[in-house]
Formats: sequence, structure tokens, C-alpha cells
Amino acid sequence: MSETKGTFYITTPIYYPSAKLHIGHTYCTVMADAMARFKRLAGYDVRFLTGTDEHGQKIEKCAEEAGVTPQEYVDGVVETIKRLWSTMEISYDDFIRTTEPRHVEAVQKIFMKMYEAGDIYKGKYEGWYCTPCESFWTESQLVDGKCPDCGREVKRMSEEAYFFKLSKYQDRILDLLKNTDFLQPESRRNEMVSFVEQGLDDLCISRSSFDWGIPVPIDENHVIYVWLDALSNYLTSMGYPEDPDGLCKKYWPAWHLVGKEIVRFHSIIWPAMLMSLDMPLPKHVLGHGWILIDGGKMSKSKGNIVDPELLIDRYGVDALKYFLLREYTFGQDGLYTNEIMLNRINFDLANDLGNLLSRTVSMIEKYCDGVVPEAKTEDDIDRELMALATDCGNVLESHMNLFHFNNALEAIWAVIGRANKYIDEKTPWVLAKDPEKKDELDTVMSNLAETLRIVSILIVPFMHTTSDRMREQLGLASEEAVWEDAFTFRKMAGVHVKKGDPLFPRLDVQKELEELSQLHQDKLATKSKRNKK
Ligand code: MSP
Repeated sequence: MSETKGTFYITTPIYYPSAKLHIGHTYCTVMADAMARFKRLAGYDVRFLTGTDEHGQKIEKCAEEAGVTPQEYVDGVVETIKRLWSTMEISYDDFIRTTEPRHVEAVQKIFMKMYEAGDIYKGKYEGWYCTPCESFWTESQLVDGKCPDCGREVKRMSEEAYFFKLSKYQDRILDLLKNTDFLQPESRRNEMVSFVEQGLDDLCISRSSFDWGIPVPIDENHVIYVWLDALSNYLTSMGYPEDPDGLCKKYWPAWHLVGKEIVRFHSIIWPAMLMSLDMPLPKHVLGHGWILIDGGKMSKSKGNIVDPELLIDRYGVDALKYFLLREYTFGQDGLYTNEIMLNRINFDLANDLGNLLSRTVSMIEKYCDGVVPEAKTEDDIDRELMALATDCGNVLESHMNLFHFNNALEAIWAVIGRANKYIDEKTPWVLAKDPEKKDELDTVMSNLAETLRIVSILIVPFMHTTSDRMREQLGLASEEAVWEDAFTFRKMAGVHVKKGDPLFPRLDVQKELEELSQLHQDKLATKSKRNKK
């Protein structure tokens, strides 16, 4: 393998296998996947980690309600999660389950290291607990007596417990948040700085009122707090602390992509744990917003969940990925409606991209016997299209480095839009009627084919199957979609194009809206019937 640009380690949160995942969860994983694919394409040696967070009171409760053991319960849900990621072609390098022995043993070693560093002591916890968030709260942190993160009921807790000396790291954490770009975006940083400025209490890191967790190595009556267990996954998956394969040495530190409500755990508790373990801190924590529906967060109890499988069955994986990455602004909340999604598919994919490809391939077949000609002339309009297309890789990279997926796609679509306009300006059907304009016509065909070739490379991180389908019609091998070729024209003379099916069939939005709402209702009805059984 040739030299890489360096290593890049990206993680998603590990999901609670309490129920099947919805479109909000797929949002984060799709972003991480696009970033991992982008970095691989650009020449980095990438490690992409995802997994499931299987311990804790919430899971124990779900299993109890289902009448099965917690292990049986999580095994069932994890299977559905892995199936979803496989359908969505998520390119993770490792999937960690916190019930795996490799994780359990490593978490116990982490606990012991922190204990031996003098950072863990025994005491008594008096306060409140939010089971859905698996979060401890003091009286003054509650909002109207409820969990400040999710607004649900909290339970009074009074337990003997082990504590981590989080307060010891307060100044270093504040410095990290205030004086570095560790946490992004800016808005999340301000929230966390004011949280730490109010003072950090030591953190309760064990529970003794239920069993579903990793035993505290020095006290069998306690299990390790699920967030300490879960956060450790970013290291345990690589074989920490022994690091037998050298993965920690090679890839750590990571970039952590997380939803806004769990930024606190990743930007305060996790760095403090790493400080206690004397490990380098993560490169960045990136907090994304939520996908909202009807103005609120999706939740099982509200029954307002959007099922990604249903959308994939109907519109394909690439349409869903494109929509998620193009529609929402990183760091901000955004609204989901079927209509917004359908319009994106129709306008951006079926019209802009699909039409450009089908018009270009048809014209090359019609005017050039299906073979991409050499360009023979060049005017300002040609130069404008060429400049925009060959610079797009650089623009894309600068947006991707900020996790601005929507801007990255917008930049590609600016090229597509310019190419569609170029066809209208150059009117090849008029040029084709005049034999004296043959050279100009060849240039137009060549420039369009080259632009589409570049687009087929640039979309690889976001919709690689569509890239393959485009390249098939363009007469190009999919494995030859290499990053370096996105910066030059004049590579396609002599290539045979071949017209294929439309990339994205145009949808009848009204009809789709009606059918989608019926399908969602049917799906919810079967689910509730199944739950009642
Ligand atoms: N298990 C913890 C994470 C531990 S990481 C060491 C957890 N799991 S979760 O399943 O509840 O949530 C996982 C991620 O999904 C979170 O980052 C959360 O923000 C994200 N989302 C859940 N619903 C979402 C939306 N509606 N929109 C966007 N993301 C959402 O927290």
C-alpha cells in the first residue's frame, strides 16, 4: 500500500439496544460513515468504530418487561442494529458490544488504574437519577423537578457507592473547553463552559441496587456506572490497556461524533477519565443537533418515529444518506417531514444529477457514436465549468474538515447546476446541425463527460452506489474513482458510454405522501399488536 496521509480515528456513540433504531440514530452513523469514507478516499488510514451500550438499569428494565434475560434482550436488538448498518452499507472497521469479554475485562482494568491513581473512593450517593439518560442530578440541577436533559421523571437515590474525583480535574477541563477547539461547535462549548464554571462534583461511578453491569473488581456488591463502562469503549475496542495489536498507539486519539445531549459526558467526564489514566485526550468532540418531528424529539412513547428501513425499501439507501447529509446543518436541530425528503430526492437527485447524466450520455450516443471525443476548442464558458469542477475537491475538503456535510454536497451540486446550465448555454442540438461546429460540439461533450466523471469521484463518500452506477454509464470502472483524478479534465477521450436506467426515478410527491403515511400507520399498528401479544 502506498504511503498514507496519516491516521484518522472516528467514532459514533454506542447506541442503547433498548429498541430498534430510528432515523435520528442513523443520522449520526451516516455522518460518521461519510467522514470515514471521505478520509479513506483522500488517502488517510482510517479506523471507524461503532457499537452498542448494553448495560444499565434502562436495559434491565426493558428485558424485564419483555420477560427475557437482559442478555437475550440485547442480543435480539443488536441483531436488528447490525442488519440496519449492513443494509445501509456502513463501513465501520469494528463494532463493539459492551457485553463482550474484551470490553468487560478492559473496563475492570480501567477502574483499577483509576483506583490505583488515587482517583476513586467509597462514599454515599444522595440525589436524583434519570434512568432513560442513565444520569445523576443534584436537586438544584433539576428543572421543575424533572431531568434537565430529557424532561422525564427522576428517581430519588440513596446508595453506598464509589466516586471518581471529577472535581480534581475541574481546572484542567475548564482550560480544555475554554482555550482549545476540543469541543465543537461553538454553541456547545459555551454551554459546557458554564456547566463546569458552576463547579464539578465528584461523580458516582457504581450502582448497587441492580445487577446488569460490569462488577466493580474490588467489591462484588457494585456494578460500574454505565457511562464509565460505555465511554471506555473508544479505548477497549483497540485492546487497551495492553494494546497487543498496537491499535491504540496507531490510532488514538479519536474524533468523537455525538448528539448534543451527550456532549457533557464526552467533553467533561471522558477527558477527566483519560487524565486519570494518563492518556492523551480525544482530538475533538463534535456535537450534532437532533432531527425533530412535529417540533419535538422522536420517541417511542410518542409513537412519532421515522423508520429508516421503510424509507430505504422505497427510495434506496443513497437517497436517504443524501437527504440526511444535505438537509441538516451540523450542530443545529432540523425538522423532518416526508415532504422535505421527497422534494430533495426529486429536485436534487432525479432532476439535477439524474438528468445531467442521462442527457449527457444520450447526446454522446447520438452525436459521437457513444464515444467521448477529444476537446478541441475552449472559450470562457468552457473555462468557467472546468475551473468550478476541478476546484470542487478542494472546496469539498475544506467543508468536510469542519463536518459541514451540507456545504460539501452543496458545492458538488453547484458543479452539477453549472453543467446543466452549460448545456442550455451551448445548445449542443444546434451545434450538431452545423458540420462546421463539430469541434465545438466535441468540446461540449467532452467537458460534460469530464464533469460527470469528477462528480462521480466526489460523491463516493456520500453515495458510493450511485457513483458506481454513474461510472457504469460513463464507461468507467468504479475502482478507478480515485481522489487525485478529481482535479483534472481530459481523461476520457475514447471512452465508450452506455445509457442505463435513470439514477433516481421522478416521484409523484402527492401520491408518495399518501402512501408513506399509510405505511407508517400500518407499521406502527403491527408493532403495537406484536407488543400486546
Ligand atoms: N448509549 C449512549 C451513548 C454512549 S456513547 C459512549 C446513548 N445512546 S442512545 O442510543 O440513546 O443515543 C445515541 C445517539 O443517538 C446520541 O448521540 C443521540 O443524540 C442520537 N440521537 C437519538 N435521537 C436523535 C434524533 N432524533 N436526532 C439526532 N440524533 C439523535 O446516548
